[in-house]
Amino acid sequence: MRFIAHLAVVAGVVSTVFALPTDRHYKEHHDDHDHDHENPMSKHYKVSYDPRPFYIINNMTESPLKKKLESCENGPFSVTGFSIGHRGGATLQFPEETVENTIAGARMGAGILECDVAFTSDRQLACRHSQCDLHTTTNILLHPELAAKCTVPFTPANATFPANALCCTSDITVDEYTSLCGKQDGFNASATNVEDYQNGTPNWRTDLYSTCGTVMTLDSYITLVESIPGHRNYTPELKTPPSQVPMPFNGYTQEQYARDLIDKFIQRNISADRVWAQSFLPADVYQWIAEYPDYGQQAVYLDEDGDTPETLPTASSLERLSAIKAKGVNIIAPPFGYLLTTTADNKTIIPSTYAISAKQAGLDIIPWTLERSGPLADVRADEEYYYGFFAQGVSYDGQIYEVLDVLARDVGIKAIFSDWSSTVSYYANCFGLGYGGFQE
Ligand SMILES: *[C@@H]1O[C@H](CO)[C@@H](O)[C@H](O)[C@H]1NC(C)=O
Ligand SMILES: *[C@@H]1O[C@H](CO)[C@@H](O)[C@H](O)[C@H]1NC(C)=O
Ligand SMILES: *[C@@H]1O[C@H](CO)[C@@H](O)[C@H](O)[C@H]1NC(C)=O
Ligand SMILES: *[C@@H]1O[C@H](CO)[C@@H](O)[C@H](O)[C@H]1NC(C)=O
Ligand SMILES: *[C@@H]1O[C@H](CO)[C@@H](O)[C@H](O)[C@H]1NC(C)=O
Repeated sequence: MRFIAHLAVVAGVVSTVFALPTDRHYKEHHDDHDHDHENPMSKHYKVSYDPRPFYIINNMTESPLKKKLESCENGPFSVTGFSIGHRGGATLQFPEETVENTIAGARMGAGILECDVAFTSDRQLACRHSQCDLHTTTNILLHPELAAKCTVPFTPANATFPANALCCTSDITVDEYTSLCGKQDGFNASATNVEDYQNGTPNWRTDLYSTCGTVMTLDSYITLVESIPGHRNYTPELKTPPSQVPMPFNGYTQEQYARDLIDKFIQRNISADRVWAQSFLPADVYQWIAEYPDYGQQAVYLDEDGDTPETLPTASSLERLSAIKAKGVNIIAPPFGYLLTTTADNKTIIPSTYAISAKQAGLDIIPWTLERSGPLADVRADEEYYYGFFAQGVSYDGQIYEVLDVLARDVGIKAIFSDWSSTVSYYANCFGLGYGGFQE
């Protein structure tokens, strides 16, 4: 979704190298033919969770919600469409938009897996969160021959200016793109060389898995998701190219780009009810509704028109949201902060005017992005984006489930994007939620 620049420069994690079993060793000991090259997960895979949901529950104050979540400690856990893997679903720890991230999100029960869509110079579609983020999400600057093609080549920091670079997916071909390694999104603004520029991951994320993430094209993402056991669906997001990549790009129009995204799913025979195509550009969404009625029916209108206290009231108006619905949009996707406020004493989190209007307008709501903010103790002081409109009511991590519970039960969201899928999947499993409130 939205790019949040993390300017904090933090010390890199000290890495230790462990020996991994060789391929031959692996094959000799896994002779049950459950796994093969195409299928990273056994067809008998059962959803399992890391310690994080339990850590959050343990930090909740006593309440019926806490008791209910504790009662689900031993599952049963299953894949749930309520849980949307943001940039894969394990972005809290894994390089975004990579195979490794997507598999981790899938293991944590995400029933819908996201690929953001950008295009290469030879007009192939690639999974990248932004058209121009290769300098912070991949190792492109460490490849001099590719770095030379960047829209803005690297310039080192000096006494007056920070380090700078801008590398767009459209600067290189798809073959060049697939030669890159995915890394955690971040950069070192003080860097005087490209090696130092690679660092800058916030300290509550990790570089533990920044070990050459496998980047994906839209096509290879579909192949991957098809290979994952359980009922898995798609949410591709058409990224709006920034001003540095004016459209049409060498004759490639925004309209054709929007068409190419849906056409890929048609070409791969993925039915419309499995695809939630998203865009921040209303024209893309209206085009899909007009040109591909089946896919348009569950096109997702990403909304960030209410980002400030000045603009939120207008964005929340029933008139505006009803007008969007009247144009054929069924699903709206705001940041979850738009949907929440607190009671006057700042003690209880409740649905906001936006949430009430969106429901009244008849829109389904799938907000973004849980688990993208680090420790909740810091969100108020940091003026963290997602918690902005109700930060006065938030101060400890146990409240992540209070927030999710208000969204799920009081607002009635259909699903939610998360940077750590187990947090959402655990909750959804406990309450029997699939996409739209039922378990699939
Ligand atoms: C939650 O964690 C914070 C920070 O570690 C701690 O101060 C607080 O007491 C914890 N709350 C509960 C209910 O465990
Ligand atoms: C500092 O960097 C900026 C931008 O890269 C450049 O224009 C400027 O000349 C540099 N200043 C010095 C003293 O090198
Ligand atoms: C950031 O870059 C500067 C200058 O190259 C370097 O001294 C510093 O160690 C770097 N920080 C990290 C975390 O790599
Ligand atoms: C396309 O998918 C449908 C199920 O959605 C299936 O029945 C059909 O056989 C598939 N066609 C091809 C050519 O794979
Ligand atoms: C609630 O939070 C707001 C914003 O931080 C603050 O201005 C106000 O004084 C608080 N009200 C109470 C009753 O604590």
